Amino acid sequence: MVPGNSDASRRPSIAIAITGASGAIYATRTLAALLERGTHVELIVSDYGRRLLHDELGDEAAVDRLMPFLKQKYGAGVAAGSITLHNNRDHGATLASGSHGCSGMAIVPCSMKTLAAVAHGLSRSLIERAADVMLKEQRRLVIVPRETPMSLPQLRNMVLCAEAGAMILPAMPAFYQQPKTLDDLADFIAGKVLSALGFEHELYPAWTGQVRS
Ligand SMILES: Cc1cc2nc3c(=O)[nH]c(=O)nc-3n(C[C@H](O)[C@H](O)[C@H](O)COP(=O)(O)O)c2cc1C
Repeated sequence: MVPGNSDASRRPSIAIAITGASGAIYATRTLAALLERGTHVELIVSDYGRRLLHDELGDEAAVDRLMPFLKQKYGAGVAAGSITLHNNRDHGATLASGSHGCSGMAIVPCSMKTLAAVAHGLSRSLIERAADVMLKEQRRLVIVPRETPMSLPQLRNMVLCAEAGAMILPAMPAFYQQPKTLDDLADFIAGKVLSALGFEHELYPAWTGQVRS
């Protein structure tokens, strides 16, 4: 991890926000896949995002130990990239400004609370402000909501975000790839996020017209 004012933090980057929806493994797989491609990731984790990382992936996935965790789980290749960790309460961080060279952002997973805030442009936290910046600058914003069932306000908030230019990419893994493990399911969603951000990947095989035998 590098501090927010280092040279690395001024390179072109992708912002990843982790919020308190279930599915922390989608976030870690997305992070690892971006890092393996040498990407500089600007990471923001909400308070409940921290809790879900811990509750779902264990002590070793704590935010301050994330890089060693990613190396251990996904391999040494993640060292090709770098992470700047931002404080979600820091509204003066680079990501709060459209002048900063961050080309896209994914909120993965995205809670219904953060979804509502983005839908209504509240900008109360750095995650909410950075998402607002993506929309106003017409850059790629990928929202990975996770909730079931969904209320009418939640559905409406997704429509509002889509109308504002965000891509809604629900955490709905497919099964035609015949996943065998939780990691296979996470690969599918992370691959969809990378595609949406404009990255090539091999996280799942392209559909050939037939299920694999
Ligand atoms: C174990 C646990 C699981 C949760 N799962 C979800 C979820 O899947 N989707 C959701 O919208 N909120 C979920 N929540 C509730 C959010 O964490 C809560 O609304 C929180 O305030 C979201 O804040 P944030 O968006 O700033 O992270 C969960 C909370 C806990 C403690």
